[in-house]
Amino acid sequence: MTRPGLVIAIDGPGGVGKTTVSRALARRLGLRHVCTGAMYRALALAADESGIDAGDEDALRAFCAGIEIEYDCASGRVGINGKDYTERVGSQRAGELASVVSAAPPVREFLVACQKRLARGGGVVMEGRDIGTVVCPDADLKFFLDAPLEVRARRRRTELGTDSGEVDEKMRKRDKLDRERAASPMRPAPDAVSVDTAEMDADAVVDHLLSVIAALKGS
Ligand code: DC
Repeated sequence: MTRPGLVIAIDGPGGVGKTTVSRALARRLGLRHVCTGAMYRALALAADESGIDAGDEDALRAFCAGIEIEYDCASGRVGINGKDYTERVGSQRAGELASVVSAAPPVREFLVACQKRLARGGGVVMEGRDIGTVVCPDADLKFFLDAPLEVRARRRRTELGTDSGEVDEKMRKRDKLDRERAASPMRPAPDAVSVDTAEMDADAVVDHLLSVIAALKGS
């Protein structure tokens, strides 16, 4: 298949720095950026507002049939049926609801279809858990960013300005849900380049990814 623009898939667990790195990489390469986690988070908040239990698959199926999700690649704004959720997707609550809602197959089918549409034509860096495996299996480049839980939890604690051990516990639970769910669990695509970010800050990761991209283009 020929596409006018590159598709770069970036997957990895929570707290690994995917969003910071993907946004910077997209800017450096002049590509659009899509944060699929924000879409799961917005959908989870909207379903919650409609009184839907995050574990109720049938209710989520009916909910998805009646909504439209809008994602603006330039600003990262995310809306559902015209309502803007951008300011709230970063909350702890949104993350907790999203980790449950994202295990429901109807939610994944709905969002994967939206994400495939956003990737059509290329020119995009898309980040999430299943981009290299499910959303863009034919991506030009796939990266899987990882770091030990202790490192990711420490970064998240700094982000949140807390030293609570609860952050570690919640991250452990979400890791488990992401890795063990039946519907497209998080795992590196067989052809993904794995990057251990434990000893690197975000700028160093971006530079590393750019050097891998340059090497692959040159080969
Ligand atoms: O990356 P994040 O923390 O914003 O993601 C929020 C939740 O959504 C997380 O529990 C995993 C889920 N998610 C997913 O299942 N698939 C994606 N492509 C992106 C996020």
